[in-house]
Amino acid sequence: MCGIVAYIGPKEAYPILVKGLKRLEYRGYDSAGVAVLNGALHVYKKAGKVSELENYTIGKDVSATIGIGHTRWATHGVPNDINAHPHLSNSGNLAIIHNGIIENYDSIKQELIKRGYQFHSDTDTEVLVNLIEEVRKQENATLEDAVRIALNEVVGAYAIVVIDRNNPNQLVAARKGSPMVIGIGENEFFVASDASPIIEYTKQVVYLDDQEYTVINRDGSFYIKTLGNVIKSHAIQKLEMSLEMIEKGGFEHFMLKEIFEQPKVIADAVRGRMNAQDGWIKLGGINEYLNKFANAKRIIFSACGTSWHSAMIGEYLIEDLARIPVEVEYASEFRYRNPIINEDDVIIAISQSGETADTLAAIEMAKERKAMIYGICNVIGSSIARASHAGSYTHAGPEIGVASTKAFTAQITILTLMALQLAQARGTISSSKLREILVELENIPAKIERALKLDEQIKEIAAIYKDSSNFLYLGRGYNFPVALEGALKLKEISYIHAEGYPAAEMKHGPIALIDENMPVVFLATNASAYEKIISNIQEVKARKGKVIAVVNEGDKHVRSLADHVIEVPATEEVLSPLVTIIPLQLLSYHIAIMRGCNVDQPRNLAKSVTVE
Ligand code: G6P
Repeated sequence: MCGIVAYIGPKEAYPILVKGLKRLEYRGYDSAGVAVLNGALHVYKKAGKVSELENYTIGKDVSATIGIGHTRWATHGVPNDINAHPHLSNSGNLAIIHNGIIENYDSIKQELIKRGYQFHSDTDTEVLVNLIEEVRKQENATLEDAVRIALNEVVGAYAIVVIDRNNPNQLVAARKGSPMVIGIGENEFFVASDASPIIEYTKQVVYLDDQEYTVINRDGSFYIKTLGNVIKSHAIQKLEMSLEMIEKGGFEHFMLKEIFEQPKVIADAVRGRMNAQDGWIKLGGINEYLNKFANAKRIIFSACGTSWHSAMIGEYLIEDLARIPVEVEYASEFRYRNPIINEDDVIIAISQSGETADTLAAIEMAKERKAMIYGICNVIGSSIARASHAGSYTHAGPEIGVASTKAFTAQITILTLMALQLAQARGTISSSKLREILVELENIPAKIERALKLDEQIKEIAAIYKDSSNFLYLGRGYNFPVALEGALKLKEISYIHAEGYPAAEMKHGPIALIDENMPVVFLATNASAYEKIISNIQEVKARKGKVIAVVNEGDKHVRSLADHVIEVPATEEVLSPLVTIIPLQLLSYHIAIMRGCNVDQPRNLAKSVTVE
């Protein structure tokens, strides 16, 4: 994981680096550092957030027009000042920032130790910078050549930027497996893990591809080469992101802002892709491959975290509506368990960031086995989007809160359109039912608005249960993955142990945990399982559990049984996750705030998991 940012140009580098690091903190926030070059190479680094680094540099010499910065999510070595990046080579000539993992660092380290190198940190990154130094010495190479040769010796993933104390006019940056974007301004360049540190200076960017590096010179020239030393042409792209999209817009936290953005996000996700009156759906990527999809023997979803929960909803939708067999795989398992993949399988990768290492590796593996790959990503130009044959963007805008909210509902919206389009193509849905669902999909933003109005009531419930040590979330059918997602939201940001379960499975284990201290959140909106879920609620009440039930507006029956009811607008069952997840997001948010947790940057987590 980790976030990297670099600058070269006429401006003061330090403020640009620090502001950029704050925007990248979602990628990791256990330590941060910068190196600035102004004749001397000054390295400042501190355990903790970027703000600790800022305090530390007060009164220090940070004036320079070239520099690199890093915010870390620890892989090798505990988060402390020494393990923080940038790292220097033994001579003190080279400084490096690195996002990723060098897998064969230990053997390289032993070899370098034999050659007299000393190591001060526990990181793989310090090994890499010294390897570059050693290659430069042995081969009498330029920095560019030394970086390239060294990278050809390492196994692993990286996005790196290297600077040389003796050359304040050049940055060398490379990537494999970790994202990197170059911002091209007026006589100035930026390099970063994503566009957020760049956006206010320039909209012109170039995305570096895997196994490529760039040499950027202060005189305004730059070029891109492959790690095989072949020059690559590059397309300059225009950023679609705006500054206000990555700011809090009056909300106290990004997570809350993103929860409240969901009505707009759903409206944006369907815009231009459907028309309820005429009953048409056109998801760009699907259109192109409609035959392939419609005749697929099997669809396999591969994803991680919240995106995996969306995939489960995708399974329910596609099997239910389009009658194509679907499997849902954790990308980390799928990629290593030698799965059976056929040419007529379609693999759908779902990823907000488009950078999750396991999801990316899973599709690379499936691609080698000739399957068609479809990507559902939020970040435009991300690695998964580019590695897919076709795909759909969720267009949810930048999601900064580490716990995913709006990306989840945007993904489900795309999956709903996909299932409906496939159902239409395969003739497994009547045109009247199709229209009914599309009309209701258009109503969803307004229904989410109504659900958001429950905020105050949910805050009251949060106050009652904020000190609980455990929570159970139960749902059936379409609401089962919602239960999983509700539990994940709570544990991610409030550190309360929470489990999601299919409501009926409760009897096979979790019921043993129920006593008067156990809050159980029931999702009781689906008509098809209503009676059954009532029985499950009774089973919990019989054991003195506390029941918080999400029900349809006007529900009387559950009210008579539950300790608390949260009434959301009723909708088509296939669309219900889009509404029922809203109170669960709010509940976890308020509980986390009341427990004094950092909701946007929960401990130990990162937004974009670019390591396996
Ligand atoms: C991390 C994030 C989660 C996210 C998961 C998958 O764990 O903290 O919020 O759901 O990665 O990320 P992706 O970008 O692939 O959806």
